[in-house]
Amino acid sequence: MIKYIVSVLFLVASSLADINSRYFPSNFKIGVANAAPQIEGAWNEDGKGETVWDHFAHTYPEKIVDGTGPDVASDSYHKYKEDVAMVKAMGLDYYRLSIAWSRILPTGYTDQVNQPGVDYYTNLFAELKANNIEPMVTLYHWDLPQPLEEELGGWLNEQTADLFAEFARLCYQLYGDDVKMWITINEPKQVCQSGYGTGILAPGIVSDGIGDYVCARNVILAHAKAYHIYDDEFRATQGGRVAMVIDTLWFEPGSDSEADKEAAERILQFSFGLYGNPIYIGDWPQVVIDRVAMRSTQEGYAQSRLPAFSAEEIDYIKGTYDYLALNHYTTHMVNATEETAIGTPGYGADISVREWQQPDWPPGAASWFSVVPWGLRNLLVWLKNTYGDIEIVITENGLSDTSGIMEDDHRIYYFQNYLSNCLDAIYEDGVNLSTYIAWSILDDWEWTGGFTSFLGMYSVNFTDPERTRTPRKSATFFTDIVKNRCLVD
Ligand code: NOJ
Repeated sequence: MIKYIVSVLFLVASSLADINSRYFPSNFKIGVANAAPQIEGAWNEDGKGETVWDHFAHTYPEKIVDGTGPDVASDSYHKYKEDVAMVKAMGLDYYRLSIAWSRILPTGYTDQVNQPGVDYYTNLFAELKANNIEPMVTLYHWDLPQPLEEELGGWLNEQTADLFAEFARLCYQLYGDDVKMWITINEPKQVCQSGYGTGILAPGIVSDGIGDYVCARNVILAHAKAYHIYDDEFRATQGGRVAMVIDTLWFEPGSDSEADKEAAERILQFSFGLYGNPIYIGDWPQVVIDRVAMRSTQEGYAQSRLPAFSAEEIDYIKGTYDYLALNHYTTHMVNATEETAIGTPGYGADISVREWQQPDWPPGAASWFSVVPWGLRNLLVWLKNTYGDIEIVITENGLSDTSGIMEDDHRIYYFQNYLSNCLDAIYEDGVNLSTYIAWSILDDWEWTGGFTSFLGMYSVNFTDPERTRTPRKSATFFTDIVKNRCLVD
């Protein structure tokens, strides 16, 4: 009898534990994200300067799937109050947004401040405050002022890092009383590899295996300078926190072989570690240093294509974080490949792996990803094991869809399962995950995807001059999660 009671009690306790583990921890924060060039529009209004993305889309419309530009986008410059009301209605803690550098400093330099641009964000932060929503603010979401590209060569020039740091200082001065969560740079890998390596994103410079590493060094220095300015001049009075957002896929070894496990680790180091190691550990990852040096020598370069950090720089960059910010969308399988023949240098050849998606993974409608929720959990555990018990903030996660369907059950499936893996990472793996930010609250201009890739929980009618917003089914689902602080199956 006693045995029976004990086992019944055990069953009750364990099912309660199961239910409890579907609740978010009491201090867990949830939010949504977007970025100025993707939603604001008003590309040349009220004194805003041209950005590399304005220039790229206007000059090379053939490089944007539907030939569109960020000119009007979701028109949030005029409709920000409506956006804030949507965030409020969903009960969210955070609204992640970005400040357009060229709206405040039209040429990129601090000698000319554009007051209407300053006022726009002052009003936006006031609106958020009035609605009790905390801003999380990105200082650089890919929209470099075009004059800095034309005059300096953009991120290939270290001077851009200094100018970015000055822009950051100005933003801390202007908005630091309202903003306590700062992000310096969003997705440096896309900025560098796609902007200055393959050239598929603005400014479209093709210099694979060379420009992308030079850019990486300058972007990391820019982040570190902006971090130190906050630390030295603002932290004591403003009490906020600063980090850089790094994006990566999860890479799953294609087999149990040592070679494939090494291949997965190698690509993670090139993908996340290239940007994360200098900040969280100090210097580039060893495997990156070794492989780029080896390939560079074979290619006949006098020195490695990877520019070194000096000992002082390593020290200066190391530790410039208050949390670890991660953007993640999907997973690839990888295995090791034969070394690519020596020819033109390239980031891909430096890594030397083969990548693929499993045919039985549910597809996100966009070709670039499948829905692989366990990949996020594996990645969170990898981050913990690699960098230690740092607080992790997921700053983007969401489903890209090409249909724009309103009954977006696949997006609901995505959020349900990715969030469920977050809870497993917290409760079963002890990952210090504090925050989840979904991409995105509303449809936007998706860079080279133009208006053909939808990630919003609210749809935007891009053919309507009013840019009407309408909630999709996922908006209701997500609102329930936020209000109940629990994943209801
Ligand atoms: C990452 C980028 O930060 C964001 O700008 C983009 O829209 C999303 N990925 C979705 O593609």
